[in-house]
Amino acid sequence: MKILITGSEGQVGRCLVKQLHSMKDVEYLALNKDDLDITDRKEVDKTVNEFKPDAIINAAAYTAVDQAEENIELAFSINSDGPKYLAIAANHVGALMLHISTDYVFSGNKEGVYCELDSPSPKNIYGKSKYSGEREVAKHCPRHIILRTSWVFSEYGSNFVKSILRLSKEKDELSIVCDQFGGPTYAGDISNALLVISKSLLVKSNLKKRKTEFGIYHYSGFPHVSWYEFASCIIEGQYAKKETDKEIKIYAISSLEFPTKASRPKNSKLNCLKIEAGFSIKMSDWKKTLNDLNDDMS
Ligand SMILES: NC(=O)c1ccc[n+]([C@@H]2O[C@H](COP(=O)([O-])OP(=O)(O)OC[C@H]3O[C@@H](n4cnc5c(N)ncnc54)[C@H](OP(=O)(O)O)[C@@H]3O)[C@@H](O)[C@H]2O)c1
Repeated sequence: MKILITGSEGQVGRCLVKQLHSMKDVEYLALNKDDLDITDRKEVDKTVNEFKPDAIINAAAYTAVDQAEENIELAFSINSDGPKYLAIAANHVGALMLHISTDYVFSGNKEGVYCELDSPSPKNIYGKSKYSGEREVAKHCPRHIILRTSWVFSEYGSNFVKSILRLSKEKDELSIVCDQFGGPTYAGDISNALLVISKSLLVKSNLKKRKTEFGIYHYSGFPHVSWYEFASCIIEGQYAKKETDKEIKIYAISSLEFPTKASRPKNSKLNCLKIEAGFSIKMSDWKKTLNDLNDDMS
């Protein structure tokens, strides 16, 4: 089995590389932005035609949600044109195309959890560019999987967990938004889900056994929480592990009290029953991961 990874130095990209490194039955080519700019159509075609992967996993993205409001063209180029070129190239060589998308394709106005059949209606440029990317992938490569995930954290790059750990060292008080709800998701669990799906779809004996359903799947961590609750758990973990004895006060504030360039959905909780039914992949337990990871996060 041959897998091509793009965006290999992002959070999910690095977790993919780490997991693939220990899988003896998979040949992989992991490319960072310097190796392959996914917005360069000629390079995408050349790379895919030469390597001839069985699956492409696109972990490359423009993820700066607030900056996207000003860098609209760049966000669409990376989050929509790039996935389109990859999907066209994947289809050309008969590869499976796995693409990662986001909870921010939803408006957040729904009560309850979002399932795959709910209509996207993104509130910000990042969400719009990712939704556009989803449609390009679906249009150009019928054998595709789009994995929508949320609130990604890991030991790599920058993310909410790392920011809270850093701020808790610098400050005595933190004010965190309490009216946006979602599922924190460990990047390593996302990469594991993508590899389980790839294997399941690429092993021919599995294909005969089950009807393959390509398309959109939701995958996030559980339990769903607000950013305020998530931050509180991160700090509590620090106390429990005796990483700090400094008293940090966390105040719950509304989104209105913390204005950002991009407006965000109040509710982006994902229903993940389809991926469990199709691939036996359960929602990830972010509290356990956070506890295991804390030492590697600073
Ligand atoms: N982070 C989240 O909270 C979150 C939430 C929901 C969904 N997602 C989705 O999950 C996926 C993975 O997210 P992540 O957190 O792992 O993202 P990330 O850490 O920002 O990684 C994205 C990677 O893509 C690279 N990249 C940017 N432009 C590129 C280009 N033109 N060609 C090739 N590579 C390029 C980036 O390089 P540079 O850093 O050098 O630009 C970076 O290494 C993305 O599709 C994202 O939309 C993320």
